[in-house]
Amino acid sequence: MGDPGHEAALTAAAQAAGAWLDSLPDRAVRPEAGAREMLEAFSEPLPEEGLDPAEVVRELAARAEPGLMASGSGRFHGWVIGGTLPAAIGADWLVSAWDQNSAMSEPFPATTMIEQVTAGWVLDLLDLPRGASVGFVTGGQMANTVCLAAARNHVLAAHGWDVEAAGLQGAPRVTVLVGAERHDSVDGALRLLGLGGATATVVPADEAGRVSPGAMAEAAARAEGPTIVCTQVGNVNGGAVDRVGEIADAVARPDLWVHVDGAFGLWARAAPARRGMVAGAERAHSWATDAHKWLNTPYDCGLAICADPVAHRRAMGVRAAYLPGGDDLALRDPIDFNPELSRRARSVPVWAALRQLGRRGVADLVERCCAMAELLARGIAAADGAEVLHQDLNQVVVRFRDPAGADHDAHSRAVLARVQAEGTCFPSGTVWRGVAGLRLSVSSWRTTEDDVHRTIAALLAAHQGGDGN
Ligand SMILES: Cc1ncc(COP(=O)(O)O)c(C=O)c1O
Repeated sequence: MGDPGHEAALTAAAQAAGAWLDSLPDRAVRPEAGAREMLEAFSEPLPEEGLDPAEVVRELAARAEPGLMASGSGRFHGWVIGGTLPAAIGADWLVSAWDQNSAMSEPFPATTMIEQVTAGWVLDLLDLPRGASVGFVTGGQMANTVCLAAARNHVLAAHGWDVEAAGLQGAPRVTVLVGAERHDSVDGALRLLGLGGATATVVPADEAGRVSPGAMAEAAARAEGPTIVCTQVGNVNGGAVDRVGEIADAVARPDLWVHVDGAFGLWARAAPARRGMVAGAERAHSWATDAHKWLNTPYDCGLAICADPVAHRRAMGVRAAYLPGGDDLALRDPIDFNPELSRRARSVPVWAALRQLGRRGVADLVERCCAMAELLARGIAAADGAEVLHQDLNQVVVRFRDPAGADHDAHSRAVLARVQAEGTCFPSGTVWRGVAGLRLSVSSWRTTEDDVHRTIAALLAAHQGGDGN
């Protein structure tokens, strides 16, 4: 099969992708088809014979379209899912075409050095220690895992224990302190690291979901021996931010590591008007964040950032006789800072997103999303029977009271189901401090004021029993 196959397949992909992206402003946000229908659409025995590459791409696009969520729409507000910037999509395609195994710098210098430069840009933009190491991983879950692996290395090394060599059997007990409103991925990371998904000490959170520095300091003082403190910048529901700097100052000691889960909230550090809320986070030891949320790169890209590159590298580094690589951290091998060997060049779309936006563009993106979330909250709060339960950064949690006064939780769940089915916008559901709510995230570069007004109208129509039109 020669080059014409490439060209026709890529042209078909460009046409299908362009048609999809062009349709985003006007199409229903929810998918038309459900999982069962999509399974049927693709279910068939493995074909005996192959198919022309361009035909494959056209067939794929046509069969998949009914089951695609328009998560790139300006009115998609589910979970915390950003859109995709044009330059980042284009760069992502190049990553596939180049097909560089971006684990080692010597044989694959272009993409690995782009990664290194991008790491420096991210540290600059988020104003984190410039000597920190950055692992480009699959997402926030893995970023938390890698950072906490470095934490585990450091706090046990402080007690003379080499966890990479000896494992955890017989090791000094590691105390892990977490906030009550942490993201589940922190528990997942602790589970993967053998620290136990349910053995952490839970420090209570306030109404907004923040832990108090005093309560964390007391818990840390009670913990003897190796200790890891997990904080959060950006609660997945309401966007609340722990006072990380105060916590870090209050708990500091040589065998203690402060980690920040800042999957989306850390990007607030890039917007001058929002920085106050996230100031002090630079005093932690590690930070997990995502590019595929607020920076609007395609999936898969999280960043595991450690102030101590040695602990990071001890936890992740791989050396084998058949692999090139050296000790020169100036020309670092990505393989030393993430858990994979072979890997795609996932930093390239991050480079492209930052190149498209520049420092000012990222600040504008963050600021606009926060302003749109505030507009959304104001618009909903003004309606009868609507209640904003919490709003911080780009996140809003609301609920709707049952006009009949019977069951507010059931009514809020019905509003969610109605508004999702109607299709103008797509919030997701949650339980916030014991009550059923709807959570709306504004994480897309596409969201405009008009989108926000249409979302508010659709929500209020669903609240009043209509369909929003
Ligand atoms: C605070 C927080 N941490 C971690 C994650 C997990 O990130 P990912 O879905 O990229 O693994 C999320 C996802 O929304 C999050 O909001």
